[in-house]
Amino acid sequence: MWKKIAGSVALIVLAVAGCGLGYLYIRKPAMAPPSPIQVAMTPERIARGAYLFQRVMDCDGCHSQHDESRFGRPVVESGRGKGYIFPAEMGMPGTVVAPNITPDRETGIGAWTDGETIRAIREGIGRGGRVLFPMMPYTNYKGMSDEDVYAVVAYTNSLLPVRNPLPGTSINLWRIPGHDGRVRGVPHSGKAREPIRGSGWPVAGSSAFRLQLW
Ligand code: HEC
Repeated sequence: MWKKIAGSVALIVLAVAGCGLGYLYIRKPAMAPPSPIQVAMTPERIARGAYLFQRVMDCDGCHSQHDESRFGRPVVESGRGKGYIFPAEMGMPGTVVAPNITPDRETGIGAWTDGETIRAIREGIGRGGRVLFPMMPYTNYKGMSDEDVYAVVAYTNSLLPVRNPLPGTSINLWRIPGHDGRVRGVPHSGKAREPIRGSGWPVAGSSAFRLQLW
């Protein structure tokens, strides 16, 4: 009798613990809805946004097409913001894709509201509440002033819409710690795109990315 009761209690405890763990696994972090703002595209904003996008925040480094055959890998103007699939040889934990962020409505972010784009840049939340893989360096961008983020959005909205369908990012969690204890990052030094050795996971702000803001 007591054995039976103890067994049932143990089962209930296990079931509750299982539900708790399951909840922790699938729950999403707290997120605010996107702001309803519509960013006015003034020439001043677009110019400041171009400077931030290309020079300071290096959106180009991940999201734009580069001419690998030329010294310094200059950005190909017609492929600015069209997206990039990071090669597996870089030690990515799955397929990591910097999406097409041109205003193409189907394959880019042309159908996004400005508030959704701002939330993706500063908070790392994609459309529909998807949590972005932190290679998108939103932790570095979270302190951007409203005016600077508006400038980046105005500039992004002004890009040439490029039709470029890409797969989504899919992360294989089991690969994250790195099998050989080392993790490769993406060099952003303007040198050839070849893996470099780093210590630590290549998330925003890691030295592998050489991403420094202000
Ligand atoms: C170090 C590489 C890197 C840099 C620099 C970077 N991004 Fe990203 N970005 C990514 C990756 C990778 C993703 C996709 C993450 C995912 O799918 O989970 C992403 C996602 C996004 C998204 C969401 C798009 C979508 O379809 O879900 C937007 C918008 C975006 N980035 C804009 C920008 C802007 C604007 C900048 C510059 C201010 C920038 N990114 C800089 C790598 C980068």
